[in-house]
Amino acid sequence: MVSIQELATFCKKKGFIYRNAEIYGGMAGFFDLGHLGVELNNNIKQELWKRFVQAREDVVGIDGSLMSPEIVFKASGHLESFTDIMLECSKCKKKIRADEIIEEETHIDAEGKSVDDILTIIKDNKLKCPSCGGGFKEPEHFNLMFKSEVGAKEGNLAYLRPETAQSIFTNFKLVYDNARMKLPFGIAQTGKAFRNEISPRDFLFRCREFEQFEIEFFCHPDKLNDCLGYNKIKSLEFNYFDGKKQKKAKISDLKASKWHAYWLAEFYRFFLELGLSKDKLRITKHNKEKLAHYAAACFDIEYKFPFGWKEIHGNADRKQFDLTQHSKLSKNDMSIFDEETKQKIVPYVASEPSQGIGRAFLAFMFDAYDDDKKRGNIVLHLHPKLAPVKVGVFPLVNKLDKEAKAVYDMLKDEFTCIYDRSGSVGRRYARADEAGVPFCCTIDFDSQKDKSITIRDKNSTKQVRVKISEIKETVRKLLEGEKLENVGKLVK
Ligand code: GAP
Repeated sequence: MVSIQELATFCKKKGFIYRNAEIYGGMAGFFDLGHLGVELNNNIKQELWKRFVQAREDVVGIDGSLMSPEIVFKASGHLESFTDIMLECSKCKKKIRADEIIEEETHIDAEGKSVDDILTIIKDNKLKCPSCGGGFKEPEHFNLMFKSEVGAKEGNLAYLRPETAQSIFTNFKLVYDNARMKLPFGIAQTGKAFRNEISPRDFLFRCREFEQFEIEFFCHPDKLNDCLGYNKIKSLEFNYFDGKKQKKAKISDLKASKWHAYWLAEFYRFFLELGLSKDKLRITKHNKEKLAHYAAACFDIEYKFPFGWKEIHGNADRKQFDLTQHSKLSKNDMSIFDEETKQKIVPYVASEPSQGIGRAFLAFMFDAYDDDKKRGNIVLHLHPKLAPVKVGVFPLVNKLDKEAKAVYDMLKDEFTCIYDRSGSVGRRYARADEAGVPFCCTIDFDSQKDKSITIRDKNSTKQVRVKISEIKETVRKLLEGEKLENVGKLVK
C-alpha cells in the first residue's frame, strides 16, 4: 500500500488536496480542495445525500449555521466534556495528545482513560517527550472547541460547531412540525465541523476543519426494535473486532437495538458498494471508557490505512440525551405527542450515523491508488460514481480538433469531462488514469468515415468502437455499470 506521504504528494501534484496557505508555510490541520478534489468530495457527499435522504421517505435534510451561542454547547455537554487529555513537555513546551503518544510508545489503547490513569501509564512506562526527551508536566484536559465572541459587545460567547448534530437537535421541533414527519424518522445534514485538535495528523485523517454527513434517527423510546428493514441486513457479514481479536460476524450477532444495527449496516454497505475492499473494512464496538458523554452505545466502521485500522464512521445510540438537555436549558419543551401510541414522549436517537467526508475521501483514495508498473503510471480505480471526471475526450491529432470538440460539447452538459489535446495519446491516457477518469473517447481519422469513435475503459484498457450519434447514451450505460463488450465492437 502507498504511504500517507506518497498519497499526499500525489494528491497535491494532481490537484486533489493542497495544504491551506502553503505559500506561507501552511497551517496544521487545514486543507484546501483542488479541481479534482472538489469533484470527488462533492460526489461522496452527493452519493450520501441521494442514498440516505432523497431516496428515503423517512429522512429529511437541513443545513445549519456553523456557529452557535455558548448555551447550545452547555446543554449538549461539549463545554464540559468535549476534551482530550494533553501532555506538555516541561523542557521544549511541545503539546501532545496523551492517548496518541501512549499508543505509539506502549501499544496501550488509552482513549477515554482518566487523567490519573494516564499519569500512571506515563510513570510506569517512563514516557518522555518524543522531540527533546524532556519530562511531561501533569496531564490536563483540553477543550477542542474553537471559541469566539460575537458582535461588538464583550462576553457574547459563541463556538464553531464540533459536530453538525446540534443544529438538528435545536431545530428538531420545527422540522418535526414543518416536514410533517412521524416517528421513526431522521434528520440529516452535511456540513463543516471544527475541532482544535491537539495534534492534527495523518493528512486528512485528523484535521481541525472537516466535513461531516450526520443523521439523527429519532424513534419512540419503546420501539427501538421496530425496524422493518432489519430482516434485509441481519445476515450481512463483516470483520468484527472485539477489542482483542478480529473475527467474522453477522449484523444479527451485534448487541444493539435493531434500528442501531440497521443504520450501521446501511453505511457499511455504502462503502462496499462504492468499491472499498471488504478485507480492509471492519466494525468495532466502543468499550465503556471510550463512549462519548451522550452515548449509550457506539460502533465504528474502521478502514485499514497504512498507519493502522482507524475509524472512518461513528454510529452512536444517543438516547434522549440531547433533546432532554435542550428542553431543560432552553425551557422549550422538545417532547412530541406520538399519534400512534397517544403518548407524549421525548424522541430517542436510536442511531446517529456520523460520516466524516475527509476520512471517506482518504479511504477511497487509498483503496483506488494503484501504481501500475506495466502501464508505468498510477491508475486510480475509483468507482465511476465517485470519479471526479467521468469522460476524457481526445483528438488523435490536433487536425481533428473540430470533430473532437463537437463530441466534447455533446457530453459536457451531462457528464464532467476533460478535453485533452496535448502530448501523445499514450500520455493523455496516463494523465486520465491518474485522475481516475473511467472512460476516454478518441476521435481518429476513421471517425469522419464511419461516424464512430473509440471508447477506452480505464480499468481493462480495452477499447470499443461506438457511433458518435449514440455516444451520450453509451457513456450513460457504461457509468451505470454496463460491460464495455456490450456497448460496441471490441477494437483489436
Ligand atoms: N456527532 C458524533 C461525532 O461527531 P465522532 O466520532 O467524534 O462523532 C464522527 O466523529 C466522524 O467524524 C468520525 O468517524 C470521522 O469520520 C469524522 N471526524 C471526527 N473528527 C475528525 C477530525 N479531527 N478530522 C477529520 N474527520 C474527523
